[in-house]
Amino acid sequence: MPQVAPSLLAADFARLGEAVQMVNRSSASLIHIDVMDGMFVPNITIGFPVISAIHRIAEKPLDVHMMVMDPGRYVSQVRDSGAAIMNVHWEACTHLHRVIHSIKAAGMKAAVTLNPATPVMLLRDIIADLDMVLLMSVNPGFGGQKFIRRTVDKVTELRRLIAESGSMATIEIDGGVDLTTAPALISAGADILVAGSYVFRAPDPIAAIADLAAL
Ligand code: DX5
Ligand code: ZN
Repeated sequence: MPQVAPSLLAADFARLGEAVQMVNRSSASLIHIDVMDGMFVPNITIGFPVISAIHRIAEKPLDVHMMVMDPGRYVSQVRDSGAAIMNVHWEACTHLHRVIHSIKAAGMKAAVTLNPATPVMLLRDIIADLDMVLLMSVNPGFGGQKFIRRTVDKVTELRRLIAESGSMATIEIDGGVDLTTAPALISAGADILVAGSYVFRAPDPIAAIADLAAL
């Protein structure tokens, strides 16, 4: 059974507190927060003051997905705003090994995110150091996009790389996840499913989270 990480990007931002309290009451394992800088991705979303406010009422660990250029600049601010996991994009880090170890030294779990066109094998020399890998199943920047099916094969490849290396990394998937796309991801070895539109557009988001977590 997968863990579920609802993405607040799809929540009503005028009622963000209620969305966090809904996730608190649900069977979700994490709260996924999407930070965008308008450079690495075209969109601009949540920043540190908002993450801190979410952290004050959240009862689940915060999974912070940094869609920003050079995210190593923000390690201490991400930690101070209450993140448990800091996700940085492979494509946004020149010195990925240094960034990963600074995230760990700050007391957070370190995760690397790959865009849909970035091959899994590029993680070979860093996989043993990672707590999690996030595979994007859409191009980052927006919620509500169509799931890219090739991601399922990438999960299989990543599962093999993790097994061969002895890494303890978990596998998280983000983008277009719902009850139709999740089963193949889970069979291929995904551990954690991020879901935005699927959860927040559902008539009963708590039931929608439970349905995904029960697959
Ligand atoms: C997209 C974000 C996702 C987004 C997923 O760039 O990283 O977390 O919220 O939204 P859905 O589940 O609607 O595809
Ligand atoms: Zn995300």
